[in-house]
Parts: sequence; structure tokens; C-alpha cells
Amino acid sequence: MAGHRLIARTVGAFVLAGLAGCTDAVAPVESTGELATSEAELVSPAQAAAGKKHFQEALPGTNGRSCATCHVLSDNTALTPAHVEALWARNPADPLFNRIDADDPTAAVPTYEHLKKGLVRVVLPLPANMDVIDVQGNVITAPDRKVSVWRAVPSIADTGFSGPFQFDGRETDLVTQAQSAVTSHSQGGTVPLPVLQRIAAFERTVFSSPRARFVSELLEQGWPLSAIPDPDALLLLDASERRGRDVYNLACEACHGDRTRNRVVNRATHDALFYALKPDGNIQYTVTPGGRPEPVRVPRPHSEFLNAGYAFMTYLGQRGVVPLFNTSVDFPQYRFRFYTDGTRQHPVTDLPPIPVTASGHPDDINPALDENGAPIVGPALAAQWYSTDPGRALISGDPAEFEAFDVPSLRGIARSAPYFHDNSHATLADTVDTYSRFILPGIPTVGLPLHPPEFPGGPPESLTPAQKQDLLRFLQRL
Ligand code: HEC
Ligand code: HEC
Repeated sequence: MAGHRLIARTVGAFVLAGLAGCTDAVAPVESTGELATSEAELVSPAQAAAGKKHFQEALPGTNGRSCATCHVLSDNTALTPAHVEALWARNPADPLFNRIDADDPTAAVPTYEHLKKGLVRVVLPLPANMDVIDVQGNVITAPDRKVSVWRAVPSIADTGFSGPFQFDGRETDLVTQAQSAVTSHSQGGTVPLPVLQRIAAFERTVFSSPRARFVSELLEQGWPLSAIPDPDALLLLDASERRGRDVYNLACEACHGDRTRNRVVNRATHDALFYALKPDGNIQYTVTPGGRPEPVRVPRPHSEFLNAGYAFMTYLGQRGVVPLFNTSVDFPQYRFRFYTDGTRQHPVTDLPPIPVTASGHPDDINPALDENGAPIVGPALAAQWYSTDPGRALISGDPAEFEAFDVPSLRGIARSAPYFHDNSHATLADTVDTYSRFILPGIPTVGLPLHPPEFPGGPPESLTPAQKQDLLRFLQRL
């Protein structure tokens, strides 16, 4: 089979490269800028081709949208703001501009401002053990118990190994996912199983690079991740890209991993981001005499989700603290009450907690300190009045997963701007700046030394300007 040959060839290349002592000598041919498709092990070419047709053409009984209406094939199966703008200028009657999720259906006049930022409205049921509350703590859950969030449209490349799917991991298999997509975006009924299976088969043949396909095929054959040779070792890298790879290993690998670039490989880094919460939603601290207050951490060995701070970042954009790509559009303002169970009789905690700020001013993001000198803060580690998207907590009902998201694969990342679950960052350079300034300095286990600000008045940074340049060069090659 084609798959077997590819694997044999590539593993052979590794052996040769190892023997030659020079891994750069045998680089696989790269097809950058274009999707690489292959016949994965369990998918016949005919099945995948039929699936591609279903993916591109609206299914019978739908509102005219196909999967490719949003997962645009010529844009790496993502939805770019540029595509939306161009289509709006050319044909505002295109099925993409359907108010069910392309705008707020209750808006008097649709503007599609969110869609023009690449954002689609996603409606999700509240878990039985949660309520929506207001600032006073009153329950204001809608009668249908649904909430909506604005999310980017991710690429479907590398779905062979990038599951669970969606930013909050709510779907675990591609067949179920395809039916949900037809129901929620295309207003269609029950799709025959073979059609869904063909769509899934097609999706499993879409890869960001031959290296991604190599990893996926070995995983599908049951290879343990640790036994799979690192395909990126075969990349021909120049000196700057090699330095960038070293920066990646120090700063990014803990969460984004190595072979798949979407697995947490450093559990300590993952677990450092989970805190014990008090009933009011603030973090518990331990204070030892003479020592600094330390947040109480609760390791979560079976979870791949984590809160890297990007929902809070969008909140800061909404409050005018930082300018972001998505700042011009409105996001919902949610607070939640979590209960012990679906009877909703016994509250556990409210998130985010009502801020207690140092200055007492409601716009201050600096928290006040309690009588032990510990900051009075919730999971954002700063004052936060509301959440624009609670992420995984909306699926699990678990307050520990408030604003936690799945770790996306960074394979092919240079071709899928804008970035993060709600397109808060326009360019890869912006994301690297944010990591360097605001995210990495707060992750104790990553432990990078701080460097002087890149510009006067800026924050100290985890990466130097040269390191950022090298990292960007390396990310272009993933
Ligand atoms: C209206 C636009 C739209 C249409 C049409 C659409 N999708 Fe999506 N798709 C999205 C959005 C938005 C997300 C992310 C949602 C989230 O995370 O909550 C997504 C996520 C996905 C994912 C998860 C990718 C990952 O790596 O997590 C897959 C797979 C997918 N869609 C497949 C499909 C298929 C198959 C169809 C057609 C049956 C389809 N989509 C139709 C907007 C769309
Ligand atoms: C502490 C864990 C962690 C570390 C360390 C980390 N990331 Fe992330 N990264 C995440 C999570 C979680 C997300 C998803 C967040 C979201 O969408 O809100 C993410 C998302 C991203 C995205 C957006 C992907 C997309 O498809 O939109 C990029 C780009 C990214 N990270 C790059 C990096 C780079 C570069 C580094 C190293 C400088 C890095 N990350 C370090 C956890 C981490």
C-alpha cells in the first residue's frame, strides 16, 4: 500500500541519515503553501475523493452551505478575514452570510463584523451543573440554557492526530463532528452514515506537510509517540532556523510538544496552571512565615486542556488595556456559578470572582492583597469582571477548566493566521511578542530568564529580539 511504502521510505531515510551522521542530508521534499494529501492507511483513494466532493458541495436539504464554505480549500481549510471581505464585496448573498452564526441573529441590521474578523457564532448548551450569573450574583440563565461564543474556524489539516476536535475538545471523532457541523452550520437533518464516513475519510487525508502525514500514519499503525522518529530532524535548517528550534525547545515544547506539535510533553508546566479555588472564585494561597504567598496547585494528570491566558487577553482587549486583532468587535460578558451537580442546589464557586482591586477603581487590573499578603485573584491572576469564553469548562462543567483550551498543533502554523480561539492575534510575530511579554514570564516551570524591554516602557521579556526572529524563522518551517 502507498502508506506502507511512504513509511518504509521515510524510516529508511532516517536510518541512512543516522548512519551518515548528518540528518540534514536527507530532507523530504516539501510542498509548502499547498495542502499535501495522501491515502492514509485505512482510507481508500476513492472514498477520500468522494468525501472531498461532499465536503465541497452543499448536502441535500441544507441551507446551501458546504463544509468548504467555512473551511476554504484554497486557504488551508480555514476561514480568513480576507476571504470574508472579498466574498462580501463580490456576493453578499453567498450562503456564508447566514445570520444563524455569521452574525448575531438578534441584531437589527446584520453587519457581519465578527465574520469579517474570521469569527463564527457557536451556540453551546450549559452543563447541568452551571448557571449564568450577573455581577450581583443573580442567576440569569436563559430559558433554553444555551450560551454563545465567537470562535475562529480552524484548519482541518492534520485531524489524523490533532483530536479531540474543536477549541474545547468537545468532539472526539470526525464522523460525529461532521454531523454536528451539518446540524449547527448548515441547518441540515440526519446525514447518511456512509456520507459522514467519507467526509471523515477525506479529512484524514489532509495534512499540513509530508512530515505531518508521516507522524499520523505511524500513530495510526499503533506506534507509540516516543518511538516515532522526529521528522523535523530531517529539515534542512540554516543557522538562524536552528537557533529558532532551540528557542522552541525551551519556550514552546512543554505544551506544544515535539512530533505532533500539539501534545503537552511537560506535565509540570501543564499542572502549574491549575489552582485550588475558594468558594468566591479566588485562588487559595499558602503563606509560610517569611516566605512569599504561593498559589495552591492541583495537578490534573488526565487533562490535556489548559488556560494559557488567551481568553483573559481578549477581555483586556475589550477593556481597552491591549490592542488586539479582535478588539473592534463585541464579545459576550459572562459570569458563571458552578454547582456540585445537576440539581444546582449546592454552589461550588463563581467565576470569574468579583475583583477586589488595589486602588479600589473598577478598571484597575492589579488585585488587592489579603491580610496574609496574598493577592485576591481568580484564575486570570488579575482582576477580571467577566469572561468572553469559558472554553473547556462549558463542556466539562469543571471550574478548574475555566478558560482552558485544547493545545493546537503548530504544524503549518505560518499559513493559518489569524491566531488563537477567537483570532485575537493577526500575525505570528504578534503571537511570539505576546508569549515573550505576557505568557512565558508567568510560567514558572519554563524558567526563562527575563530580558530588558524591547521598547521603552515595555514589559521585561522572556525572549530577546534576536531569539524572537530565530523562532519565527523556525515556525515558518513547521
Ligand atoms: C459556518 C462555518 C462552518 C461550517 C459550514 C463548517 N464548519 Fe467546521 N468549524 C467551524 C468553527 C467555527 C469551528 C471551531 C468551533 C469550536 O471550536 O467551537 C470548526 C471546527 C471544525 C473541526 C475541528 C478542527 C480541529 O482541529 O479541532 C472540524 C474537523 C470541522 N470543523 C469539520 C467540518 C465539516 C466536516 C464541516 C461540514 C460538514 C464543517 N466543519 C462545516 C466552522 C464551520
Ligand atoms: C503553557 C502552555 C503553552 C506554552 C508554553 C506555549 N503555548 Fe502556544 N498555545 C497553548 C494553548 C493552550 C493554546 C490555545 C489557546 C487559545 O486558542 O486560546 C496555544 C495556541 C498557540 C497558537 C495559536 C494556534 C492557532 O492555530 O491559532 C500559537 C501560534 C502558539 N500557541 C504558539 C506558541 C509558541 C510560538 C510558543 C513558544 C514561544 C508557545 N505557543 C508556547 C499553550 C502553550
